[in-house]
Amino acid sequence: MNNFEFCNPVKIVFGKGSIARLSALIPKESKILMVYGGGSIKKNGVYNQVKAALQGFDVTEFSGIEANPHYETCMKAVEIIHNKGINFLLAVGGGSVIDATKFMAVAARFHGNAWEILSQCKKIECALPLGTVLTLSATGSEMNERAVISRAETHEKLNFSSPLIFPKFSILDPEVTYTLPPRQVANGVVDSFIHVVEQYLTYPVNAKVQDTFSEGLMRVIHEEGLKVLDNPHDYDIRANLMWAATNALNVWIGMGVPQDWSSHRMGYALTAQFGLDHAQTLAILLPGVMTYMFKEKQAKLARMGEVVFGITNGDEAEKARQTITACEAFFRQMGLKTRLSECGITEEDLDALVAPIDKQGWKLGEHHNIDSRVAREIMKLRL
Ligand code: NZQ
Ligand code: ZN
Repeated sequence: MNNFEFCNPVKIVFGKGSIARLSALIPKESKILMVYGGGSIKKNGVYNQVKAALQGFDVTEFSGIEANPHYETCMKAVEIIHNKGINFLLAVGGGSVIDATKFMAVAARFHGNAWEILSQCKKIECALPLGTVLTLSATGSEMNERAVISRAETHEKLNFSSPLIFPKFSILDPEVTYTLPPRQVANGVVDSFIHVVEQYLTYPVNAKVQDTFSEGLMRVIHEEGLKVLDNPHDYDIRANLMWAATNALNVWIGMGVPQDWSSHRMGYALTAQFGLDHAQTLAILLPGVMTYMFKEKQAKLARMGEVVFGITNGDEAEKARQTITACEAFFRQMGLKTRLSECGITEEDLDALVAPIDKQGWKLGEHHNIDSRVAREIMKLRL
């Protein structure tokens, strides 16, 4: 296990009715920008709960954040932040709304071209404080220091991270996820499962706490994920999935261990160029990474198979192979596609899909050996 420094400063308020706690979490003198998406919160009562909790506060609203939030939209909000002297941002939504709010928080305090925060990893010196009310369990954005933003104009999707964008607090009420469409529920299950995989599935470094924690999370997400679509109003299933998704990407399980975010990074182009849902990109690509990097990942694949899927037959290589099959079957059971061709993507599209890897100079994977050529081979396996 490598050395690490660790800090996660996000206060979590979890459970039924927890949105009512909002007023105690935001400083009274705040000028708040309440950021939300396309209107789901107005239909399911979350908007009313938030507004009731914020009575007496100075609140400006900014709606219309897209799934896979646009840079262009965020910059419109930044103008409002400046014009109105906003000093606190409240995201009410899923990962897209939270990520957009994180980007606004830094862009509003950034001198220069804010796109360079993403395209050139420009250093972030300060940010506005933000809090979140989570409505979709998937990304872990509610308890992490990352965000992913798309530029509609150029079909680019890029991420950035900074300790300054950890939310001050996040409210997690599992009941608000009852209204999610099945496709978003399935996306959340698959995305959170793969977040754990990408921090776990490398090579053994005898990090027992991280490994055991990760295996527990994968088991919970797999077990509850298979139940949730048939039991959308089961509080315990929703609560377990929500807390698992938060823990799947809140820094803890990735401390001091090698990580492989190649499926995520390669997936950005599938969303930016073809509009695939984020989790859909991962369900297609991850089995390809597992197959192409089989030798490197064999030991952890076999262990994952035993603990998560109950695979006990065969030697290590055989168990590892069965784990890949079980993962793909799980994604299909959740209703996701696992092949590029099912999404209308052909071999002719691959050059454009791997181009961002060269443009950004990425060397992906735990061994930094996935360049655009290797990425193309991985994608070919998924046609
Ligand atoms: O826009 P509204 O009307 O709110 O509808 C949303 C949206 O259409 C809807 N929704 C959310 N909560 C709902 C609801 N509908 C009914 N009831 C509710 N309670 O769901 C749709 C999808 O929402 P979105 O926020 O886009 O989904 P998700 O949470 O999966 O976020 C995806 C984004 O997060 C990024 C992805 O790349 C993508 O841009 N990620 C962020 C990460 C991070 N910050 O750490 C890590 C992830 O790997 C991921 O990359
Ligand atoms: Zn993800």
